[in-house]
Formats: sequence, C-alpha cells, structure tokens
Amino acid sequence: MRKPIIAGNWKMYKTSGEALELVNGLKSELKGESAVDIVVCPPFTAIAKVADALKGSNIGYGAQDMYWEEEGAFTGEVAPKMITDLGCGYCIIGHSERRTYFHETNDTVNKKVKAALKHGLTPIVCVGERLEERDSGKTFDVVKDHVEGGLSGLTKEDALKVVIAYEPVWAIGTGRTATPEQAQEVHKYIRSLLGKMFGEEVSSKVRIQYGGSVKPDNVKAIMAGPDIDGALVGGASLNVKDFAEIVRQSKR
Ligand code: 13P
Repeated sequence: MRKPIIAGNWKMYKTSGEALELVNGLKSELKGESAVDIVVCPPFTAIAKVADALKGSNIGYGAQDMYWEEEGAFTGEVAPKMITDLGCGYCIIGHSERRTYFHETNDTVNKKVKAALKHGLTPIVCVGERLEERDSGKTFDVVKDHVEGGLSGLTKEDALKVVIAYEPVWAIGTGRTATPEQAQEVHKYIRSLLGKMFGEEVSSKVRIQYGGSVKPDNVKAIMAGPDIDGALVGGASLNVKDFAEIVRQSKR
C-alpha cells in the first residue's frame, strides 16, 4: 500500500516572514496527521526559517530546484549539499516552468535526479504534456520521453526512492484540472512504463502524484484513481486552510 504524499510547491511566492506565517499555520492545522506524507517546498530564501519552524514536526520540506554539481563557479545556482545542509528531504526537479522558462531538458533533469539521489534527497520528478501535445494525441509520447529521459540510468534501488509528479501543463494555474479519468489514465501509463524500466515490484511501489489546479473540492475525486498517490499543489498550497484540507481529503 503506497502512502499518499501531498507536497506544496510555493513557487516564487512568500518572503521568509510570510513563509514562517504560512508554515506555522500548517503546523497547527496538521498536527498529528500521520496518514499522509506532507511536504512543503518554499523558495530557497525561506528554507532556513521554515526548517527551524518545522523541527520535530510531521511536515517535511524541500527545495524547488537545485544544480547537479557539487560546488563551483556557477553563479546563481544552489548545490545539493546546500539544501541538505538545511535539512531538506526533497527536491522538485524538472517542473514544467523550469522546462519552459529556464530551458531544462530531460538531460538536465536526469543529472539533477542523480545528484539528488546521491545526496539522499527524494526527487519529485515532474512530467507532463502541453495543451497542443494533448490535442494532437501526443500525451503518452511526451510522458514516455520525460519519464525515460528523467530516470535514465537509475538502478532499481534508486527508482524506489523517486516520486513522480504528473502535471499536465494545461492544468497548471489555469483552474482547468484534468478529469479524474484523464489523470488515472496517464498515471496507469506511467506505472506501466516504470514496470518496463525497473520491473513490476518497483513500479508497484513508486508514488505518482497528480498536479494541476488541485483544490480541496477536487482532490478526493482525483485521489480515487488507483494509481494516484498524492498531489503536487501550487496555488492552493499558499493557503493554510486549503492545503490542510487537501491533506485531510487525501487519506486512504
Ligand atoms: P497549481 O496548483 O497552481 O495549478 O500549480 C500546480 C503546480 O505547478 C505544482 O507544481
């Protein structure tokens, strides 16, 4: 039985003071909640404060991106050990906004996934098609390309540590969620791909989140899909009540 995992991607929102307020609210709302793995991914600048606030709590935290090199002359980048040093357990990798605006490719995603695993981080690897790709019947091809490219060269042991987030780009920040059937269809496909790459035993254990306009009032229907193991939440993760309700609605 896969334990649900709900992660909040705060994107480029929240100064550290605002982040602290949000995380303190979540801490009290979600106290003792243990049936779901709960994760928040603040911007880099707020991670240290969030980490302090979350000490000893049931809420995990991570970064939204990182570079793959150990250290060096890479102005503006953040190394894996800089985030593990802050106690991060997770790192979102290959979000569609990074692929679109910052030219990330399957190759850079793959390097980051490997670096994350090397440093003991759980990579949350984002995959998903754009609207024109869905409309032209290319959804499965794109998802296959992202999954195979992003996870290329991983051992079975590594693959077990990965979380995949299926985020159809057309559903992100648009209020237009995939229907539960559309989401389940792709999640099932991703699980079958993982089966071909790493074997059935691994694929049956890897958690696959859905992301794209997840809200308190649609998460239950989405989570009903047998291959859907959680959500990667953007907008609604910036609101204490909404995110806490999404967590509560995700219990199996
Ligand atoms: P929204 O929930 O705002 O659509 O964002 C989804 C997302 O991109 C999470 O990574």
